Amino acid sequence: MNSLQELQEIVSPLLAWYDKAARVLPWRENPEPYRVWVSEIMLQQTRVEAVKPYYERFLTALPTVETLANAPEEQLLKLWEGLGYYNRVRNLQRAACVMVEQYGGQVPASFNALLTLPGFGEYTAGAVSSIAFGILVPAVDGNVLRVISRLTADSRDMKNSTVKREVTEAVQAILPKRVGDFNQALMELGATVCLPNGAPQCLVCPLNRLCKAFEQGIAAELPLKTAKKPRVVEERTIFLLCSQNRVALRRRSAKGLLAGLWELPSVTGKLSAEQAKGVLAEWGEKEAELTPLPLAKHIFSHREWHMTAYGGKVPKPFGELVWVTYRELLEEYSLPSAFKSYADMLKDWISVDI
Ligand code: ADE
Repeated sequence: MNSLQELQEIVSPLLAWYDKAARVLPWRENPEPYRVWVSEIMLQQTRVEAVKPYYERFLTALPTVETLANAPEEQLLKLWEGLGYYNRVRNLQRAACVMVEQYGGQVPASFNALLTLPGFGEYTAGAVSSIAFGILVPAVDGNVLRVISRLTADSRDMKNSTVKREVTEAVQAILPKRVGDFNQALMELGATVCLPNGAPQCLVCPLNRLCKAFEQGIAAELPLKTAKKPRVVEERTIFLLCSQNRVALRRRSAKGLLAGLWELPSVTGKLSAEQAKGVLAEWGEKEAELTPLPLAKHIFSHREWHMTAYGGKVPKPFGELVWVTYRELLEEYSLPSAFKSYADMLKDWISVDI
């Protein structure tokens, strides 16, 4: 495979491999448009194995565009709790509302119409169009870019928009009638065989005899890694506050990281126990005894939280905080994964009535 122009040859062996090797996934067994759309949004930035349990639960709770459009925000966030990138589920609902208002509650069968909806970029519009409707458009994600960069031994930066456009056009030119299977086969090869981080499984690859990088022995070095911006490290201090078998939560601000989600009360900075007591005094509790808890770390895509934490039992609820039972926390409130290690400790802090 010397160039993007020669890609045609991969079509038939790739589809033959997909027919044998494709993972059985719930959205593949029944590729109804709504199901395909939800799967593609969940699969953005999240691995298939992590998505599976969320997917079934979401589809059972909200089986149609209309039920999604009408779902209360707390239910949506609860169904998404732990998946991260919460704007995905907010956009999912916004798009569902447009589908109800403008498309009779159906996912529109048009690449250009999909592209105008919240949460749809070129990849997602391509994936839904091709998988759910058989529309002849490509769906080029990071997996596909890696596969193509190796097949053609292309050492250019695959994140560069001109390079991406060229690859997308080359894939467009070879799309077969089974376009949904073909697009998924390219992704599937990237996810299960043509693996990232220097670990391609070339010996079992159905395309190895067509692969320029394999021939040259450089598959593990491609695609070329560009220097990533280092993540910003942010120190935070977290409070586990308990009173009368209830724990304090707070709603985060409507803008920025984890916007509008619930959190364990927290402040910026690495506070000493004395400073932490000062913060609680400002919030209205002057007598709290604070116990230092283990440090924890959470890694977001562009940021890291290094967390210091204090636990405190107080005689009565105070401040602009919401005090909930452990059962309510589990069943009704959604807490982002960043707080998970501390939320797990709550069981030891309050008497749990479940
Ligand atoms: N990643 C995103 N969508 C996918 C799909 N339909 N199949 C495999 N991997 C995917």
